[in-house]
Amino acid sequence: MAVYEPSDDSFMLARTVKKFARGKVLDMGTGSGIQAETAALSKDVTSVLGVDIDREAIESCRKNIPNGIVSFMKSNLFSEVKEKFDTIIFNPPYLPKGHDGIEDLALIGGKRGWETIDSFIRTAGNYLNTNGKILLLFSSHTDKERVDQIIIENMFEAEEIARKRFFYEELFVYIIHRNEVMNDLEKLGITDISRFSRGKRGLIFTGMKKKQKVAIKVKNPVSKAIGRIEIEGRWLKAANKNNIGPILLHASPDFVVYKFIEGMMIEDFILSKHKKDIKMVLKRMLEQMRALDLMRVDKEEMHHPFKHIIVKKGNLPVLIDFERCHVSLKPKNVTQFCQYLTNSYISNLLAEEGIMIDRERLQSNARTYKGEQSDENFQVILDEIDNTVPKKSV
Ligand SMILES: Nc1ncnc2c1ncn2[C@@H]1O[C@H](COP(=O)(O)OP(=O)(O)O)[C@@H](O)[C@H]1O
Ligand SMILES: [Mg+2]
Repeated sequence: MAVYEPSDDSFMLARTVKKFARGKVLDMGTGSGIQAETAALSKDVTSVLGVDIDREAIESCRKNIPNGIVSFMKSNLFSEVKEKFDTIIFNPPYLPKGHDGIEDLALIGGKRGWETIDSFIRTAGNYLNTNGKILLLFSSHTDKERVDQIIIENMFEAEEIARKRFFYEELFVYIIHRNEVMNDLEKLGITDISRFSRGKRGLIFTGMKKKQKVAIKVKNPVSKAIGRIEIEGRWLKAANKNNIGPILLHASPDFVVYKFIEGMMIEDFILSKHKKDIKMVLKRMLEQMRALDLMRVDKEEMHHPFKHIIVKKGNLPVLIDFERCHVSLKPKNVTQFCQYLTNSYISNLLAEEGIMIDRERLQSNARTYKGEQSDENFQVILDEIDNTVPKKSV
């Protein structure tokens, strides 16, 4: 890989480094070392570490930049970085693949240009002190909206501090800091935060609290739904009293923290386990549905719960996602779950495992239960699962 001479973008970023770098500085993807060298000249800077994936670049920086407070190390993004910093500088590869026929890894940021920025931002918070700042440069070729989204979806906030047009592209420099939620989570002792999944309304992160893996649900800043996180916290707490749902650890209007569930999604479980285990899980699910009915809460969507039941070791199904919960005098949890068991896809899947559900009978029992949600009527439904003997062929 070629070692690059600094160009326009480097000089533009260096001007902001001069102004904003302070304390302990990390120069990510240091290349020629220009940002590291610039930072080291500031009286507000105490030390500088420059890292790059390219060994030649690191060797040449070590030779050419003999400043006593600067050191260099080979690292693929944060792979070898073990400390936290006050300032992280990043002039990333930001061009989309095939841009102007360029193939060089030091310039191409992935198929669409922003992928390297995404990988960087995903874990950057773990290397940034509470009031730390990131200085990030990118170009109009990078998809600015996407960069903005990546930043807010990883619990950061950004401010544009420089913008300049160079012939066919415009360059931007952002100063980025952790948002309030990330700082609040840190105060609660949660570390190693990293994004896990993106839903329509919520963003799920994982983290560590003491030695326990936790899930963190935060409102998706893009979503217009209001109050969902509060509902999640309130109902999860209530459900926990009946041993339902992952154990809630913290709830605030902006986020909830609960135990991470290691396991299999319900349909993967059905596909990979045997009759006895599946029956046990289905019965336990029905019992949880019954408990929710008795709580007079509708969880919603229990007729297609495939993303919301995780089965832990020991055949223990755990329900997740309580943000649609609402009070109801005639909750539909049991009946919706029966609907799920009798849909043709699931009943065929179960039949392949030797669990023959009499669809008409279960539907009729569910209707009876719907009319009167009594223990007796529920028991009849539960018994259906035990009575599922393979049909005799005629
Ligand atoms: N406690 C948890 N343990 C493991 N995975 C979880 C947990 N909470 C959520 N997830 C994962 O995140 C996904 C989305 O969570 P969910 O609560 O349904 O939020 P949303 O529907 O808003 O995206 C789930 O389908 C599941 O894969
Ligand atoms: Mg969901």
